[in-house]
Amino acid sequence: DHTHADTLRTPIVAVLGHVDHGKTSLLDTIRGSAVSEGEAGAITQHIGATDIPLDTISGMAGELIDPSDFDLPGLLFIDTPGHHSFSTLRARGGALADIAVLVVDVNDGFQPQTEEAIDILRRTGTPFVVAANKVDTTPGWNPQDGEPIQRSMEAQSERAKSMLDENLYEIIGQLSDAGFSADLYWRVQDFQKNIGVVPLSALTGEGVPDLLTVLMGLSQRFMKEEMAIDVTGPGEGTVLEVKDERGFGATVDTVVYDGVIRNGDTVVVGGQDEPIVTEVRALLRPRPLAEIRTEKEFEKVGEIGAAAGVKIAAPDLDEAMAGAPVRVVRDRTVDQVVEEVKAELAEIEVETADNGVVVKADTLGSLEAMANALREAEVPILRAEVGDIAPRDIAVAETANQDEHKAILGFNVDLLQNAESDLENADVKLFKNKVIYQLVEDYERYVEEKQR
Ligand code: GTP
Ligand code: MG
Repeated sequence: DHTHADTLRTPIVAVLGHVDHGKTSLLDTIRGSAVSEGEAGAITQHIGATDIPLDTISGMAGELIDPSDFDLPGLLFIDTPGHHSFSTLRARGGALADIAVLVVDVNDGFQPQTEEAIDILRRTGTPFVVAANKVDTTPGWNPQDGEPIQRSMEAQSERAKSMLDENLYEIIGQLSDAGFSADLYWRVQDFQKNIGVVPLSALTGEGVPDLLTVLMGLSQRFMKEEMAIDVTGPGEGTVLEVKDERGFGATVDTVVYDGVIRNGDTVVVGGQDEPIVTEVRALLRPRPLAEIRTEKEFEKVGEIGAAAGVKIAAPDLDEAMAGAPVRVVRDRTVDQVVEEVKAELAEIEVETADNGVVVKADTLGSLEAMANALREAEVPILRAEVGDIAPRDIAVAETANQDEHKAILGFNVDLLQNAESDLENADVKLFKNKVIYQLVEDYERYVEEKQR
């Protein structure tokens, strides 16, 4: 019931893209310009996320934004490192991110992880914009630090401008091949129908004001209803990562997208075998940038409300899974909430067969994406689990009836050291890749060669 204490929360913006295309640099620049605007204090660092308030955004966007047009509090950016699967970013069966920025290196164009990001954005129906990054690498570029992109383009030679245009149209064409009609953002009338492409440079900051403007406009126009939350309601979130932290044991880095989590709350967290019921011992936030070098990395907070990133320390979190739900119990019964979490996990339970391959992935979301890709390729699955490849996975793979199924497909996971010799001695083939469709292709090629 969201009728009484409704407040608009911060939209969650995922920054996605191929390795090295500039996701982190872009966020650094947004943070950095905020610092140079003298608003460093306004920026809150979260676990895995950065919160930029509306005032700061409008300061950076300058003439492009009139802050009185907006009533959302700002934007919460989530960085997704290239080695880490952003398919973790799920919530209640949908996407955790309200909108996304797909970062594409303007010289490299679409690369495997770009394609993969597009697939996931399409599947989850997440609105997105494309940041065509690194425009400053265009030969002969005359940098216009921090300026809106159209002004910067006016300052370029014809030659530089036409080289950039060529690269931009290449990207627009690739988006079209992927089934999205796209154009340079200032030509887009309806952002629900067309994808806006924002040329920018994370290095010089030109075009960054435009990106912020487009993001604010998108969230304001299309997502206000979803942003209305009961700020005092029981917190709901998604595990981004399970991490051992000195002095705390296993902790879960969580993005809270609804309600509030308080210290001492009983929470239910999706686990490897069954939901974990535990009590919050500490809610941890990174200290402000200046203090990170001091001895303590975290600051304990009493409560944290959506949208935010926070590290939760609580007993028994070892078996928690990246991508799994986190739910505060508060005024309901533990059983009720356990059932809720089970129901949500059941949605992503992968269909398995009596015969097939073993699949391991780093998060629930990526496991689900793997299962979808394998279903399309008509490859049956014997067992699918989140986690690194362990001796028992090899033992299970060996039980497959058909030789071609004696295989383990690992997405973004490692072979545990104690499983190395098992693998050498077993008649099991291991495939590892950081791109889902490449992993599936590697396996299909292997099967083809085997049948020859
Ligand atoms: P992963 O997290 O590894 O996936 O990479 P990333 O997408 O976060 O890329 P990152 O921001 O680490 O940038 C990769 C490299 O590109 C770094 O050397 C950056 O300095 C460089 N780079 C990023 N943005 C720009 C840009 O706009 N112009 C130029 N010239 N270099 C850039
Ligand atoms: Mg990065």
